[in-house]
Amino acid sequence: MSILSWDDFEDDEQKPAAQAHQSAPVEPQKTTHSQVVSNAQQSAPSVATAQPARTHSKRAEYSTDSLARASAALETLDVAPGLEELEMGAQRVQVDDKAMINCRADLNQLVPFKYEWAWQKYLDGCANHWMPQEVNMNHDIALWKSENGLTEDERTIVMRSLGFFSTADSLVANNLVLAIYRHITNPECRQYILRQAFEEAIHTHAYQYCIESLGMDEGEVFNMYREVPSVARKAAWGLKYTQSLCDPTFQTGTPENDQILLRNLIAFYCVLEGIFFYCGFSQILSMGRRNKMNGVAEQFQYILRDESMHLNFGIDMINQIKIENPSLWTTEFQEEIIQMILEGTMLEIEYARDTMPRGVLGMNAAMMEEYLKFIANRRLSQLGLPEQFSGVNNPFQWMSEMMDLRKEKNFFETRVTDYQTGGALSW
Ligand SMILES: [Fe+2]
Ligand SMILES: [Fe+2]
Repeated sequence: MSILSWDDFEDDEQKPAAQAHQSAPVEPQKTTHSQVVSNAQQSAPSVATAQPARTHSKRAEYSTDSLARASAALETLDVAPGLEELEMGAQRVQVDDKAMINCRADLNQLVPFKYEWAWQKYLDGCANHWMPQEVNMNHDIALWKSENGLTEDERTIVMRSLGFFSTADSLVANNLVLAIYRHITNPECRQYILRQAFEEAIHTHAYQYCIESLGMDEGEVFNMYREVPSVARKAAWGLKYTQSLCDPTFQTGTPENDQILLRNLIAFYCVLEGIFFYCGFSQILSMGRRNKMNGVAEQFQYILRDESMHLNFGIDMINQIKIENPSLWTTEFQEEIIQMILEGTMLEIEYARDTMPRGVLGMNAAMMEEYLKFIANRRLSQLGLPEQFSGVNNPFQWMSEMMDLRKEKNFFETRVTDYQTGGALSW
């Protein structure tokens, strides 16, 4: 990984591209500029040699007109409108002023902390930083391109997983920044949501990296969420919960609208990230356990680690909103949420049957169905709702071990340490 140094900034000033950009706005200098370039070309030294003088004259110009305008604008700056509805000199933000939703306290002040759990998850997320290019894909490329490396069923699983996830993580990221962010009114949770949004970008990057490395048909993979019914139905189910929140006029503050927000949070954190990811994750990780597509499996294991934290953050956030707004959690609303979890489970079972018409990788659709019912029961009890599937067990115990990555020290130790100590500027 390259480390940024001040030399990079110095170099930029010498580059012709940067120079062209700088000279663009000011017409009268054109003649002078071409003369300088022309003179420079005639007398052999490169254009770069002529740059410092040019940059200097440009800066001198800014100091007359632009600087005068900037200075005049600052003289008339009124602090109050810039801070929107904040009152200058009002009492400082107290912990008790903070709230999960509908908060009127200043959201630009991270401390004093009220939601320490959200801040801690932000720190944990940063400590787990990773990038897709760090994973070696050479064996995967050789296996994917060899004629007998994978069975047709295994190839279908890889294609479908990348097809679903490559767009699902974009849907989640868009929901975070376009729908959820402005309605969660405390800076600790917003800090984590910003971190999560970047992690979703890394996940989309990871899928793109796999698709590109394996030389897949990008059009086919990226359009599955519109063309393959079992993938499209999951995406469509999630998207309908985004729509009302994306309306710029939507505001929380009434019981109906606060419930719309809660529905969205449950749809995305508990169903999309909490159920829809689990068939694909277990299929790809099972492949890795059988020593096939190890690079893709390693990418998915990093993603699963991030996703289990997103899920836990979402559950904490939803439960905290319930604590602060108990009137929202009516019996009727609880029944609706149970139905949402059941709908999500059924869609994921549909996806499992579509992607595993036969037994493959030591799993089959019936085992996956039991696993998904087990997962659905977990999500319901995490939300304080009754389990809906009796007598189901976890047929994939190894998945729990993969998720609890503190048990996977050797797998992650080096990279995590690299990021914790290496992310500094070189002076
Ligand atoms: Fe993700
Ligand atoms: Fe996520």
